[in-house]
Amino acid sequence: MTQAQRDAIVALCSEVFKLDYAFYMNLGLPSVHVLGYLGERLAAHALWLTRRLRIGSGPWLDAAYVEGVATHADFRGRGYGSAVMRRLQAEVGGFDLVALSPSDAGWYERLGWVRWRGPLVIVKDGVAQATPDDEVVVYRTPRTGDLDLSAPLTGGWRPFELW
Ligand SMILES: CC(C)(COP(=O)(O)OP(=O)(O)OC[C@H]1O[C@@H](n2cnc3c(N)ncnc32)[C@H](O)[C@@H]1OP(=O)(O)O)[C@@H](O)C(=O)NCCC(=O)NCCS
Repeated sequence: MTQAQRDAIVALCSEVFKLDYAFYMNLGLPSVHVLGYLGERLAAHALWLTRRLRIGSGPWLDAAYVEGVATHADFRGRGYGSAVMRRLQAEVGGFDLVALSPSDAGWYERLGWVRWRGPLVIVKDGVAQATPDDEVVVYRTPRTGDLDLSAPLTGGWRPFELW
């Protein structure tokens, strides 16, 4: 990714999320970005990073965790956000599961995502803590087996939004 592309992502996501997105870009987390351009202009963005997730007492899964889903206000409602998500969804088939915390779960449901119904749990230093105020939607890949959507879904702690 070029510096100009990084700058455009920071500008777009800072404006959309009303925060300094450079903080997240500078965390140095390995991530893959999907960029949707209208001509020269970055219109929409999403990224995934890898995250270990656990369903119930099952094994830890290699998941793609999606962040930064954003369409610039000038370009909303024209399918750009959906196009970026469909491309992302086409690229993450090698993961056991894909997940994200939505601000509007209905928007993701039309793209094939399903709401996690069970409790959400974060583990920090071996201590599990429920996060009842959060919401997660998941997307199945060819590697995803049967999913018990009512089981606890556990993720490791991280030093920013837990989900
Ligand atoms: C969410 C967001 C990325 C959507 O991007 P977008 O480019 O405007 O979305 P699209 O144009 O691809 O999608 C519009 C479609 O979604 C549908 N839609 C919108 N909200 C919906 C909902 N709650 N349930 C079902 N469908 C919904 C619209 O009816 C439209 O459908 P159509 O194409 O059949 O007419 C954009 O609004 C945004 O950046 N919001 C602020 C940041 C944000 O909330 N990001 C998500 C964080 S998890």
